[in-house]
Amino acid sequence: MYYPDELIEEVRTRNDIVDVISDYVRLQKKGSSYFGLCPFHNEKSPSFSVSRQKQMYYCFGCGAGGNVFTFLMEYENFSFMEAVKFLADRAGIALPEAEYSKEAKQRADLKASILEINKIAARYYYVQLKSERGVGAHTYLTDRGLTEETITAFGLGYSTKYSDDLYQYLRGKGYSEDLIRQAGLINTDERQGVYDKFWNRVIFPIMDVNSRVIGFGGRVMGDGKPKYLNSPETAVFDKSRNLYGLNRARTSRKTYFLLCEGYMDVISLHQAGFTNAVASLGTALTSGHASLIKRYVQEVYLTYDSDDAGTRAALRAVPILKEAGISAKVIRMDPYKDPDEFIKNLGAQEFENRIQNARNGFMFSLEILEREFDMASPEGKTAFFREAANRLLSFEDELERNNYIEAVASAYKVSKESLEKLVAKTAVSTGLARPVTRPKKADGAVLQKEDGIVTSQKVLLTWMIENENLYSKISSYISPDDFTGELNRRVAKLLYEQHEKGELNPAKLLNHFTSEEEHREAASLFHTKIRQLKTKEEQDQALKDTILKVKAHSINERTLNLDPSDMAGLQHLMEEKRKLEELRQLHISID
Ligand code: GTP
Ligand code: MN
Repeated sequence: MYYPDELIEEVRTRNDIVDVISDYVRLQKKGSSYFGLCPFHNEKSPSFSVSRQKQMYYCFGCGAGGNVFTFLMEYENFSFMEAVKFLADRAGIALPEAEYSKEAKQRADLKASILEINKIAARYYYVQLKSERGVGAHTYLTDRGLTEETITAFGLGYSTKYSDDLYQYLRGKGYSEDLIRQAGLINTDERQGVYDKFWNRVIFPIMDVNSRVIGFGGRVMGDGKPKYLNSPETAVFDKSRNLYGLNRARTSRKTYFLLCEGYMDVISLHQAGFTNAVASLGTALTSGHASLIKRYVQEVYLTYDSDDAGTRAALRAVPILKEAGISAKVIRMDPYKDPDEFIKNLGAQEFENRIQNARNGFMFSLEILEREFDMASPEGKTAFFREAANRLLSFEDELERNNYIEAVASAYKVSKESLEKLVAKTAVSTGLARPVTRPKKADGAVLQKEDGIVTSQKVLLTWMIENENLYSKISSYISPDDFTGELNRRVAKLLYEQHEKGELNPAKLLNHFTSEEEHREAASLFHTKIRQLKTKEEQDQALKDTILKVKAHSINERTLNLDPSDMAGLQHLMEEKRKLEELRQLHISID
């Protein structure tokens, strides 16, 4: 649904950011701003600030920031449109009815209906569990150590022995067979006709991050097969993008998640006070899971089962997490099978000790690698080190690689120098043996350079937003077209327009970025961390360097893309190059 800019701006201005955030965070006035404990990272003293005047928030600790829409997108995990709707409601503004395409409307309706059916089904299962018929299931759960409070908190339930109990119940409520089937709650059999998917099982409702029921898992009580039955993927249930327990874990104030394998592991951990536990349900960890996790924490402790399958799963998960920028540690559960059994036998304190002694994901992978070699023989050991050196090469950052070389050398009692040599030798020989890997490295270098220039552009934008005076300085050398990052250029255009009209308003500017990714990135522009420069000379120099860098890059880009027959364009570029050289001689002052 597309709403006119004025309407979105009205919604924003009618919801004062201090009032809205006060519903979530205790704020105290200090000077012209309000301060509180940041809801996006764990902290003891308040570094989260909200400005009524700017209608923006910013955390000096973790760098989170944006306008009132950004806040709700981050805190409630809303999409931009969900944030707009929520705040329109809050301010009593009526939004025009959505004019969806027919298909989009049908799809949205289907999702809403499935969520509705799921909610009713979850409630139904829950009531069964608490009823006379559910005594057996209830006993099963309490025998496994769950308290009444936990059962309620996770909304556990029971599907009865009658083969179409739920189906009849939902039909009675007026839902069509087709819809119930699309929710994944029934199957059809030639002989039996329609029957419930879950039959005589303990039910675990699966919720998304906003606590909406998106599917179910059902466990047999005892040794039947299959042990667990799960909802099929539906219009609302995508296994690779949801984590069990995330709706609760996201509000735990820990800086890391405990990632485990099963429903029961999550529930036991929460009951034992580890409210930051989540699980990927019966599927291997995907990059979709990783980017979902990344929204909340930068670190994950893997608490997978201690059997071979669990170990393999942990080994696979480490690089997927690393790829997403999450560091991984591994907690071993031996001599027990999984966190649930571990806690039951050794208790929460012992689990906490295991957390403290968690192993770094890379070191863990080496320990597992050891098993493939005869570490007692010199040949075996040498072969092991060759493979270790090979893996150390995967750290592209030199500092990080050196830290790992040091850690490996110390863990395996070899000298750091000899390991360094081996890594260097391996680098050369794999480089020679497999020249295909080289272009990849070259790409990496280009990418880094790009990143550098994008960062410089961001720095300029941040300066221009913060300081009217700097805007006029910078804008006399740099035009919006000099910003080569697509998003940076859009922000620059809007910012220059606002300045032209004499109405600088960053909070309003953010309204233009409505997809989640873009909105986040645009919001981050308003707080790009700028190195603290002490002296005025340093500041002047930084300003000049940054302007020169951005301008030079822009001219280069345009030179590369210039049509050779475009004489006017060529002349213009020559002129720009000349100006750039002049600029190099100039002194630009920051104030
Ligand atoms: P409990 O035996 O109840 O403690 O289960 P668990 O949580 O320890 O489960 P386990 O480690 O055996 O499996 C981990 C997860 O994989 C479960 O929570 C399920 O999501 C999934 N899973 C396990 N068994 C099955 C199965 O037979 N079928 C399907 N589809 N999924 C399963
Ligand atoms: Mn278990």
